[in-house]
Amino acid sequence: MGKLYDLHWQMPVDPAKLKKTAPFKVKSVEPVHLVSRARRRTALQRAHYNIFNLRSRDVYIDLLTDSGTGAMSQEQWAALMMGDEAYAGSVSFDLLRETVRDLFGFEHVLPAHQGRSAELVLMSHFVSKGKTVPGNLHFDTTSAHIFFQGGRIREFPQKRIFDLDDTSVFKGDIDLDRFSAYLAGHAGRVPLVIITATCNSGGGQPVSMANIREVGRLCRKYHIPLFVDSARIMENAYFIRTYEPGYSRRSIRSILRELYSHVTGMIMSAKKDGLVNIGGLIATNDGKLYDALKQYTILFDGFLTYGGLAGRDLAAVATGLREGADLDYLRFRVSQTAYLAARLHQQGIRVMLPPGGHAVYVDGLAFCPHLHWQQYPGQALTLALYLEGGVRACEIGTILRGRDPRTGRDRFNGLDLVRLAIPRRVYSFDQLDYVVSVLDRLHRKSERIRGVVITKEPKALRHFTARFALS
Ligand code: F0G
Repeated sequence: MGKLYDLHWQMPVDPAKLKKTAPFKVKSVEPVHLVSRARRRTALQRAHYNIFNLRSRDVYIDLLTDSGTGAMSQEQWAALMMGDEAYAGSVSFDLLRETVRDLFGFEHVLPAHQGRSAELVLMSHFVSKGKTVPGNLHFDTTSAHIFFQGGRIREFPQKRIFDLDDTSVFKGDIDLDRFSAYLAGHAGRVPLVIITATCNSGGGQPVSMANIREVGRLCRKYHIPLFVDSARIMENAYFIRTYEPGYSRRSIRSILRELYSHVTGMIMSAKKDGLVNIGGLIATNDGKLYDALKQYTILFDGFLTYGGLAGRDLAAVATGLREGADLDYLRFRVSQTAYLAARLHQQGIRVMLPPGGHAVYVDGLAFCPHLHWQQYPGQALTLALYLEGGVRACEIGTILRGRDPRTGRDRFNGLDLVRLAIPRRVYSFDQLDYVVSVLDRLHRKSERIRGVVITKEPKALRHFTARFALS
């Protein structure tokens, strides 16, 4: 399989060949401005050098996240107007349930206001003290919800997921040897298993159908429910179609139906591949489980036909899910990520390979070789990128990982990355070229990038609110 991938991705690939023509045209525009360098400097000072504190009107190209930042279609805007705001039994909920049944093959659907509220419902039911939830690599909010219920996590990523230069495909797969050995010894304390596809904490790398099938078989053997964190499942299905033997002629829907036939259920933040600004869901075919989960939905998110959302939001999710599974859209979507990665690679900037579905990860340590990891090169590069060109990205490194609760020291794993997350259907290739030109300029004078010190930090999730100064 690795070979097959290399055929397509051997770097340097000609980036121009990756460009795909957009399967849409622009109907409504939102102006953006590049404010002056002096204003960007002041904005950074006012933000205490934390890009989460920047006002979006001071940002020119916003690659902070691909979550809730996509552009909706005319069909979605029309669906909003048709939203049924009934407290119970809304027509918009019926629409969502029909879509989930058809696209994913799950009978029971619980809406949630976003991904983490779906996690709260799921973990409230399954997790308690003494329980451990295995997975490939959990997203931060997933881990946080497991901890919140008193549980622990156990992750079984492939070693190659941490190797930025290993261009083999499906680096998001669970390491089956270690995972099956763990289950053989500890199945009793495992209330559920979660596969995150694509794997956001591992660069958006996809998980193969073969891996999901095998993990599903193991979970059934030990009677353990298996859930897929499906925030970026359309991109994952697209990678399966493109790179896994036997799937190249299959529709995205049929791949999704097969994928979910191996598992107990799904949780989804619809803010990514659901192409909406807010929304999420849980779905399963297990009627008993659905009955247990719905009590939590009522407690946390309101009645079970709206789950914390307005009826119009449910209608937009139903429409967005269908558009998210469209092959032309997915081709364009994934080609933007690949293009950005290939162009940066061509300029000699070290990025994670192969590029995942939703973001390009730049190696902060390689970009700033003059900085020690304790000067937080990822954070330093994020700040420099904003100052140089008004581009907002996100540090995925030492700051985000936080401190080891036992030693109080920063957790360093050899990587200090900067994530350039690409919103869906929002930016043109020209704007991606602009991002490349800013990074290229910065790369040529990288020795001028100043390190960072923390001046104030909260106990948990420090990257959102910590304050910094330039060293
Ligand atoms: N699962 C994954 C894989 C995610 O990437 C996210 C969010 C969530 C769950 C939580 O969903 O935000 O709707 O509550 N990821 C965003 C990001 C925040 O920027 O990667 P949510």
